[in-house]
Amino acid sequence: MTEAKAPYQRGGSAEDASFKEAGLRFEVDGEIATITLDRPEKRNAQTFATWSALARIGDSLPEQVRVVVVTGEGPSFSAGIDLRMFTPEGVPGQGSFGSAARQDQDSFDQSIERAQQGFLWLRRPEIVSIAAVRGHAIGAGFQLALACDLRIVADDVKFCMKEPALGLVPDLTGTKPLVDLVGLAKATDLCLTARVVEADEAFRIGLAEMVVDGEGLAKAVQDKVEQVLSTNRDAATATKRLLQGARLRTLEEQCAAERAEQAVRIRTLFAGS
Ligand code: ACO
Repeated sequence: MTEAKAPYQRGGSAEDASFKEAGLRFEVDGEIATITLDRPEKRNAQTFATWSALARIGDSLPEQVRVVVVTGEGPSFSAGIDLRMFTPEGVPGQGSFGSAARQDQDSFDQSIERAQQGFLWLRRPEIVSIAAVRGHAIGAGFQLALACDLRIVADDVKFCMKEPALGLVPDLTGTKPLVDLVGLAKATDLCLTARVVEADEAFRIGLAEMVVDGEGLAKAVQDKVEQVLSTNRDAATATKRLLQGARLRTLEEQCAAERAEQAVRIRTLFAGS
C-alpha cells in the first residue's frame, strides 16, 4: 500500500466540514477509500448535499485508490431520502419536492443528473466498490448499495425500493443494476410491491454476494478488500471493462474485446523479454 493521503484526510479542512454537513465522512488509506454515511441519529437519511458530496468525492478520487467501501454509521445503512423533502419547508438550504416541482424541465433534469453523478462513478473500471450494508437500505439507500460492484451484508439487512409506494420512481441509477442482478420479473416484484428483502432472499436472488453476522461485517469487508488488492491493478481494470461490456456485446464481439485487452496486457508485461 502507498502512503499517499488525500488532502481531505488531514482533518479540519473545508472539505471535511462540507462532507460533515452533507452527512458523510470520507477517508483514504493508501489504495482504500471509505465513505461512511454519518447521520445515524436520522438513520443516515440522504439529501441533495449528500449526493453532491458523493459526486465531489468521485470527481477528485485520488488516483491510487483501487477499492471504495461504502458503509453507514449506526444500525442502518440508510433510510433513503430525507423525508423533510416531502414537507413544504423542505431541507434547509436545499429545497423540497414542492420547490423541485416548480423548476423548469432543464433545471430539474440537471439537478437529478448531478445527484446521479454521486452514484455513477462507483462503477468505474479502475476501482472496485463494496457496499457494507447492515439494517435498513431503503430507497436511495438501496440504490446506493446497488451502485456498488459488490454488496456484503449483515444478517439483519432489509432492502426496500420504497419509491413507488411514495409516488416516485427510483431515479438514482438503481433500476439498471437491479434488473441486471435479479432479472426483470423479480425487479418488478420488488419495486412494484415495495416489499422488504431480508438477508436470505438477498443472497438467494443475487442482491448480496455474502451474508455475515453483524459483528463479522467489518472483517468480511476487510478480507474482501485484501482479496481484491491481491490482483494486478491494470489487469483488474481491463477485466472489469470486459465484464461490464459483456451483456451488451455478442459472443464474437466479446471475444474480440478479450483479444484487444489481452494484447495490451501481454505487450505491457512481456515486451522486450
Ligand atoms: N428522513 C429523515 N429522517 C429519518 C428518516 C428519513 N428517511 N428515516 C428515519 N429518520 C429519523 C426519524 O424521524 C427519527 O428521528 P427522531 O429521533 O428525531 O424522531 C430517527 O431517524 C430514527 O428513526 P426511527 O424510525 O425511530 O428508527 P427505527 O430504527 O425504528 O426505524 C426505519 C428505521 C425503518 C428506517 C424508519 O425510520 C423508516 O421507515 N424511515 C423512513 C424510510 C423512508 O420512507 N425513506 C424514503 C424512501 S424513498 C427514497 O429514498 C427516494
